[in-house]
Amino acid sequence: MFRRCVARLVQAGAAVVGTTSRPEAVDPALRSPDLLSLRIDVPLPDAVLRREQLTVLTRPVPLADDVRLDEVAARTPGFVAADLAALVREAGVRAALRQKSAQTPTVLMADFTAALEVVRPTSMAAATLELARVTLDDVGDLAEVKQTLTESVLWPLTYPDTFARLGVQPPRGVLLYGPPGCGKTYLVTALAGTGRANVLSVKGAELLSKWVGESERAVRELFRRAREAAPTLVFLDEVDALAPVRGQATDGGTADRVVAALLTELDGVEALRNVVVVGATNRPDLVDPALLRPGRLERLVYVPPPDAEADGDPAGRLAQRAACRGRRPARPRHGVGRVLGRRLCGTGPGGRAGRDA
Ligand SMILES: Nc1ncnc2c1ncn2[C@@H]1O[C@H](COP(=O)(O)OP(=O)(O)O)[C@@H](O)[C@H]1O
Ligand SMILES: [Mg+2]
Repeated sequence: MFRRCVARLVQAGAAVVGTTSRPEAVDPALRSPDLLSLRIDVPLPDAVLRREQLTVLTRPVPLADDVRLDEVAARTPGFVAADLAALVREAGVRAALRQKSAQTPTVLMADFTAALEVVRPTSMAAATLELARVTLDDVGDLAEVKQTLTESVLWPLTYPDTFARLGVQPPRGVLLYGPPGCGKTYLVTALAGTGRANVLSVKGAELLSKWVGESERAVRELFRRAREAAPTLVFLDEVDALAPVRGQATDGGTADRVVAALLTELDGVEALRNVVVVGATNRPDLVDPALLRPGRLERLVYVPPPDAEADGDPAGRLAQRAACRGRRPARPRHGVGRVLGRRLCGTGPGGRAGRDA
């Protein structure tokens, strides 16, 4: 019906322009050569364009001297103009609250920094990790794992130009593996919390069930958005469900096709620039080995259970085990295991004061 309307318009000599934010959802028939034949993608703004948009958006805003729009632009990958407008508004609100009775209130860089904490890009809305205010400092122990992730995931995403200049090829992907409940998902949430990159996150099983029959398209879509919003961290949680060893499934080949789509995306006809893929699994043995080859999830990182021996005291051990059952407080500050251990075992804070200090 709608197609016929468009056809009639076109035949009558009208120029028809359609817009959509979900091109994949548009009936392909509408894209036939005699209808909407031309497709023009309007990509997400890059840092330069965001800088320009910010300049325009902040024109009526009294900015303090310390506001560096370049830096704001650099810290807002994935933001579209509407998001930037929301950001400027939020910064303004904060400035107003701070200086209720000032004659000439100004917006400081600090207001922008604070606004950046709460305003998230809409383009990411569907797949962003819930933004817990977690940073790597909140992740107890796991020093080595944190170091590896910082070097092989965070730095390449934060300083892509430096890496390119040095001719260093950062790893395309990392697989976190280890027993359940020991912080794999938590670690990636913490990486996201540093705010240096966009994070697109999917859970293997969820993606499969939500997109029954179209999971391959969901995978392609995910990577399309990752490329658009780069620098992006793509997090494939429970990747064993998404990419099981091929040739074993009983689902008529869906799983195999999803794995194939995933590999295609990783090998990328369209290069995955500034996109790092992190997978997590409790069962690396179930993951299709092709996914772990160089150029894909090439770096394997073991997330160990809490090291009871190294800690050496039963309270710590108990606490860490409790943590592994997901009972750590949402926002631990430091040495949580021990804080919690005290509570669990009824030890007073004085008990281990020296060590804790
Ligand atoms: N190293 C850690 N430091 C602080 N909290 C942790 C740590 N490891 C696990 N936790 C807590 O345990 C919960 C479960 O961890 P999670 O990351 O979901 O485990 P999984 O490895 O199965 O993905 C987290 O939400 C977090 O609260
Ligand atoms: Mg998990």
